[in-house]
Amino acid sequence: DPQNLQMEDAGTLRRLDCRAKGGASGFKVAILGAAGGIGQPLAMLMKMNPLVSVLHLYDVVNTPGVTSDISHMDTGAVVRGFLGQQQLEEALIGMELVIIPAGVPRKPGMTRDDLFNINAGIVRTLCEGIAKCCPNAIVNLISNPVNSTVPIAAEVFKRAGTFDPKRLLGVTMLDVVRANTFVAEVLGLDPREVDVPVVGGHAGVTILPLLSQVKPPCSFTPKEVDYLTDRIQNGGTEVVEAKAGAGSATLSMAYAAVKFADACLRGLRGDAGVVECAFVASQVTELPFFASKVRLGRTGVEEIHPLGPLNEYERSGLEKAKKELATSIQKGVSFIRK
Ligand code: NAI
Repeated sequence: DPQNLQMEDAGTLRRLDCRAKGGASGFKVAILGAAGGIGQPLAMLMKMNPLVSVLHLYDVVNTPGVTSDISHMDTGAVVRGFLGQQQLEEALIGMELVIIPAGVPRKPGMTRDDLFNINAGIVRTLCEGIAKCCPNAIVNLISNPVNSTVPIAAEVFKRAGTFDPKRLLGVTMLDVVRANTFVAEVLGLDPREVDVPVVGGHAGVTILPLLSQVKPPCSFTPKEVDYLTDRIQNGGTEVVEAKAGAGSATLSMAYAAVKFADACLRGLRGDAGVVECAFVASQVTELPFFASKVRLGRTGVEEIHPLGPLNEYERSGLEKAKKELATSIQKGVSFIRK
């Protein structure tokens, strides 16, 4: 009964009702893990995104504070907070895009795979909720190790009978963002003009920048190729070490997550030619999952681009990447199947 609601709740309801009648403008987006190091700046940036009409913030701690804070921003999206497992379903009902940065980050000396034991269980629980409450939502999975958590999510959805490979995307955008930045530095260009495809996966040697396909067309010395490949593959570790125990990349990750989510929403809206790299179910290689450029549309991943011509250096990198990826994918699949 609207009369029992607070004044602002009633106003919000009127606004949402108006929007619904006038043909929905904007999408409903949930962030799971919204009170974390990535979650908070991600929530702030999504509240600023004009494509978002409703923003649900879910976490197991601290969402009331984050929600109250962000809800005061005078941008269009209506923000609601959800706290604890008992509110997960409510947070997910009706969502069209679900972004997942929930889980523990690395500390110095850890690999992303060291996070598996904790994060695998978190991702399983959250994906069970998605299968039940918003099985048609596009899922952007950030929680590491992405090379294993995406296969975990796929298995959970398969079990629930809701798996659609077009709607499950592992977020590797930060690797692309870093690659664009580092390549631009070497070339003396503005990073906004640079486009580096990064394929494979999201950990160490599985991160495979295709420097032979950089736009604008350019060439690198063998020394530059070694330097850039190493820096792009270990960019995450650079941040983990600089933060010295306080976590991993959060601000650049929130930026990358919003860049990627915005591309997904533009695709959902029907924009043409939206292409980004993501870790998805794929037939580009013999592996069941692989990151490459994908075209995003109304149904999610509408086309997976082939890798294109690779040089000798990249072909040998690809073999190394595939070997590690196969193990990480299998580890995720067995976590659910066993
Ligand atoms: P954080 O520890 O600051 O935040 C994680 C948040 O998840 C916390 O607020 C925590 O309460 C919440 N959480 C824990 N269990 C949960 C559950 N069951 N349901 C909902 N929320 C839960 O960590 P940070 O720095 O935000 O990193 C989050 C994840 O993102 C980590 O796994 C990290 O490795 C990954 N990451 C991925 C990157 C990528 O490129 N894909 C880049 C950087 C980090």
